Amino acid sequence: MMSEVASSFRILMVSPEVVPFAKTGGLADVVGSLPAALRELGCDVAVAMPLYRGVAAENLAGERIIEDLPVSLGSQVIPAEIWQGTLGGGIPVFFIRRDEFFDRTYLYGTPRGDYFDNAQRFAYFCQAVMALCPALSYRLHVVHCHDWQSGLVPAYLRLMHGGDPFWSETASMFTIHNIAYQGQFAAELFPVTGLPGNFFAVGGMEFWGGINYMKAGIVCADVITTVSPRYSEEIRIPPAGRGLEGVLQTHGHKLHGIINGADYGEWNPETDPLIAARYSAKNLAGKKRCKRDLLTTVGLPAGLMDRPLLGMVSRLADQKGLDLVAALAERLVAEDLGLVILGTGEEKYHLLFSELARRHAENVAVRLGFDNELAHKIEAGADIFLMPSQFEPCGLNQIYSLRYGTVPIVHATGGLYDTVKPFDPNRGEGVGFSFTRYEPEALWEALEAAIGMFHRPSLWQQIMRNGMAMDFSWENSARLYLALYEKAVAARRRPPAR
Ligand code: ADP
Ligand code: GLC
Repeated sequence: MMSEVASSFRILMVSPEVVPFAKTGGLADVVGSLPAALRELGCDVAVAMPLYRGVAAENLAGERIIEDLPVSLGSQVIPAEIWQGTLGGGIPVFFIRRDEFFDRTYLYGTPRGDYFDNAQRFAYFCQAVMALCPALSYRLHVVHCHDWQSGLVPAYLRLMHGGDPFWSETASMFTIHNIAYQGQFAAELFPVTGLPGNFFAVGGMEFWGGINYMKAGIVCADVITTVSPRYSEEIRIPPAGRGLEGVLQTHGHKLHGIINGADYGEWNPETDPLIAARYSAKNLAGKKRCKRDLLTTVGLPAGLMDRPLLGMVSRLADQKGLDLVAALAERLVAEDLGLVILGTGEEKYHLLFSELARRHAENVAVRLGFDNELAHKIEAGADIFLMPSQFEPCGLNQIYSLRYGTVPIVHATGGLYDTVKPFDPNRGEGVGFSFTRYEPEALWEALEAAIGMFHRPSLWQQIMRNGMAMDFSWENSARLYLALYEKAVAARRRPPAR
């Protein structure tokens, strides 16, 4: 039974990206679907994010509700507009509009590198959130911040609004979606944050002589979470902690791991309107049509219908294990199989994979760009989903693959370890293939095992069905968040120890 207090919680999610408004990766999927799951549990949830160019261009920002909100940035006050739209049938979304910061082609930077003023852009975003709530008389039980771009909010709350009656009941949660991106900037930019001088310290947001927005969030939040139990252990030690392991050990009592859910409203082969045919574990016939359609869509020969077709949908970043794929590319192609890669990101991978597709047009198709429809077609049409990430906080694509009967091959790390149990042919249990040493040879062994099994149809269908039966719906994870909100709020209400 939900307690009285929990069922009336008011929560604001603060995130730099949210589906369907702006997305570079899984964070957007999470903040796009967790609010509805929390609402199902009785919470009152809203979301705050920047108003990027794409949001305005697609007319998704709703209506302007504040014309001129004074927002501090360092010693300046720069007004913001606030727009209000909705997410998934009724969840309010507050958009912070300041075109000089957010009216740009990309969210954080171009394929060549980060925007030069990200410290200013996201300090401004966080300050705008702090200004927005009182302006709307929107009192919160929990402000739930996601990734470094919102890391200053817990710091503002604790260090600058500690005695403010408006915020007296508000606890903060900070969720680490990826510790590889910390928001590190030069010390000279510390004044941009407007935080008190003594916070530039080892116990504050100082980091190797510079400043670190994620560290600010970790240090100041009442509760810290990350997106899988395994990753919550990994980041306490090097190298996964990326230099923040000591800080996470100090604040370890606040750190919890909650696995992401999947939005099966969007990612479900039984209902997906973006794929060529619908199918289910009971009737897999449609999956063949999806494979044929995928081959046609990306221009690969129909002769690959009875060969294993490998799919990848990925940010093209070092994290994703692309160096292993590159090292094995020639051997892979010699195996007489198909490979479809959809991704966008670092220029070096754009070059590498387009060159591979050029040399092996009969087997390899590469699409460089962001294409949601093709992502769905790959999930449905491929036989095997390749996700050899060097590290993976949670990973959503392998979770989607499982539901689509597309057998994942993963590096056993973080959320991949937690979600993909290797198949054991003797017991008929398990849902995919994995390897532990991060080396091309280890991936190769997993690939060979998978390809061998692909040619044993009854076992292969068993693996597919095992995966399709797994359930990562949001409800379970939302309950775990709710339990932590309760804990954070209770801690907030307890009078401080003398
Ligand atoms: P990460 O957040 O690290 O990129 P996840 O697996 O958690 O990894 O989430 C990735 C999400 O982004 C998935 O929803 C995936 O389908 C989507 N995605 C990634 N790259 C592309 C792309 N090029 N086109 C379309 N969707 C993509
Ligand atoms: C990050 C991680 C990914 C995770 C996603 C959503 O982008 O890289 O593993 O699934 O956030 O939490």
